Amino acid sequence: MKNQEKEDVVILAIESSCDETAAAVVKNGREVLSNIISSQIDLHTLYGGVVPEIASRKHIEKINQVIEEALAKAQVSLKELDAVAVTYGPGLVGALLVGVAEAKAIAYAAKLPLVGVHHIEGHVSANYIENPDLEPPFLCLIVSGGHTHLVLVKEYGEYEIIGRTHDDAAGEAYDKVARAIGLGYPGGPKIDRLAKEGNPHAIEFPRAKIEGSEYDFSFSGLKSAVLNYLNSCEMKGEEINRADVAASFQQAVVDVLAERTMTAAKEYGMKKVAIAGGVASNSALRAAMMSACNRNGLEFYRPSPIFCTDNAAMIGAAAYYEYRKGVRSGLDLNAVPNLKIGER
Ligand code: KG4
Ligand code: ZN
Repeated sequence: MKNQEKEDVVILAIESSCDETAAAVVKNGREVLSNIISSQIDLHTLYGGVVPEIASRKHIEKINQVIEEALAKAQVSLKELDAVAVTYGPGLVGALLVGVAEAKAIAYAAKLPLVGVHHIEGHVSANYIENPDLEPPFLCLIVSGGHTHLVLVKEYGEYEIIGRTHDDAAGEAYDKVARAIGLGYPGGPKIDRLAKEGNPHAIEFPRAKIEGSEYDFSFSGLKSAVLNYLNSCEMKGEEINRADVAASFQQAVVDVLAERTMTAAKEYGMKKVAIAGGVASNSALRAAMMSACNRNGLEFYRPSPIFCTDNAAMIGAAAYYEYRKGVRSGLDLNAVPNLKIGER
């Protein structure tokens, strides 16, 4: 393959930061030759959330098989690769370490360059996969289980955070509210589904504004408001319409996310808006962002749901642009559980 297409860069990417063991082969940052994901969700559901110790152990069990499958599906051998990429943070330290150790072993044995990738930068880069025309600069709303950020993507791999949550991440709020109304883990997709049967205007939940920071978020007040509502219904002996609670909560989250993103796009003169992270697969958020962008004459980008949840193709996409810039990690690469965006 290399002889015919010398310019091509083929990267094996590995992701193991939370509860998905994933490997992918990506060509030139945008062409996904394979994308294998082994999810541990069923296992963690028993405990109502991700158990770090179990996650690490499962990653060890699965990772070789997942990588073999990714290479086989892509019909690419180790010799045909140009680099190995791996998520090295942020995430659960034990889980990250499994991917990092594996990537280092492959890079050493196959004499390949190693590229450490930031998990959230991977989520943002998922937008490149299905949108060949998308290039920076653009504004990206990142909404995952651990992060809620508004970032300016100024260049490939160059980020400026202009907004962040002061407390809970959007996904965290979904998960906590889901637990409160008895939906279980993982809450996001379950609320998304149940909300379709409810009235989003049935209950007026608060839309928090942060004094002095127009692009920041806060979801803990909303979460408390939902809990208070549930408690007061219980005390009055009133029946709770869970679908209405889910729909009204979701509407409050989506309103805030879309509104702040539009304000930022206008203020920073951005013509392109993207969304990324697990919550970016939320159907109400996708619809609200689409119509807000249409109203404001902005181009809207979002990855397919399979590239919104944790996957390795997005790591391969981010790694390509790092690789092209000459970024290489040493074999002393370590997991960094609280790695910040833009940090190396
Ligand atoms: O990006 P991700 O897979 O993992 C992190 O990097 O954190 O995000 C996981 C989060 C969870 O909180 C999950 O409930 C949420 O994304 N999520 C959703 C949906 N699918 C996943 N939230 C709302 N609606 C969805 N459809
Ligand atoms: Zn993620």
